[in-house]
Amino acid sequence: MNLFANLFTSSIGRKFLMALTGFVLTGFAFGHLVGNLQIFGEPDHINGYAHFLQSLGPVLWLVRLALLAAAGIHIWAAVVLTLESKCARGSADYGVHRWLEAAWASRYMRMSGLVVLAFIVYHLLHFTVGLVGTEYYKGSLAAVTLGHDVREFGFPLAAKGTEVHDVYSMIFIGFSHPLVAGFYILATGLLAVHLLHGMESLFQTLGLRNAKWSCCLRKAVAALCLLYFLGNLAIPGAIATGLLKPAPGTTAATVLAAKAAAR
Ligand code: HEM
Repeated sequence: MNLFANLFTSSIGRKFLMALTGFVLTGFAFGHLVGNLQIFGEPDHINGYAHFLQSLGPVLWLVRLALLAAAGIHIWAAVVLTLESKCARGSADYGVHRWLEAAWASRYMRMSGLVVLAFIVYHLLHFTVGLVGTEYYKGSLAAVTLGHDVREFGFPLAAKGTEVHDVYSMIFIGFSHPLVAGFYILATGLLAVHLLHGMESLFQTLGLRNAKWSCCLRKAVAALCLLYFLGNLAIPGAIATGLLKPAPGTTAATVLAAKAAAR
């Protein structure tokens, strides 16, 4: 049997696949957050950035397929490993305390994983496909023209005068609904705790965790997950509470003013 097949057929191989795909998905989650935090800047910036990603065409589709494959393998490995550990439970020689801890962690990982999965489906329908929560911005998003060149670290993302998707207004209008904002905060909070246990397991699986520095590792991972949660909390939280207001003259400013007047 070759090494590749072994990854899928052995328990340790599946654990490794889970760690590897978890690493890829975590990288995406952090990168996506950094991109989304541009909502605190001027509208052209996040709109130009989103336009640049969309303009990658086949490269964007390759990344999307890789992410989809990573998510599929991650979920498949989780299901198989859970079933295996259920079968093996009778013969495990864990102490009662360690067994309870492990059982709680794996139950928590399953539940939070399911909520995060439901969140991602909702999120894609909300912001990528535009099938849910679009009553205020449907049809008004395609016609924004960039007022100036958009650059990131000197790299040109989009030129002045380009017609772009108004991601800026879409996010503002989406999170002006407190229930939607609340669901995002809940889901990203669960995702942060999922990452907390997941990242620690990743180091364990790769043999990179030892007694000497497992305490520092735990603190570093916890700090990273807290930062991740705070970043995700900031966007829907600031918009839903009105702490962050849309820039004057944007579709979001007009739509939110009309909504406030209608109340
Ligand atoms: C405050 C939180 C978030 C905001 C504001 C946000 C914003 C967005 C926006 C605007 C898009 C559509 C981009 C476009 O069509 O141009 C998008 C796509 C996406 N988001 Fe998020 N997102 C958030 C949280 C998350 C989280 C926590 C995840 C999962 C870890 C996630 C996963 C995705 C995925 C998989 C896509 C599709 C990417 C693609 O179409 O290539 N998002 N997000």
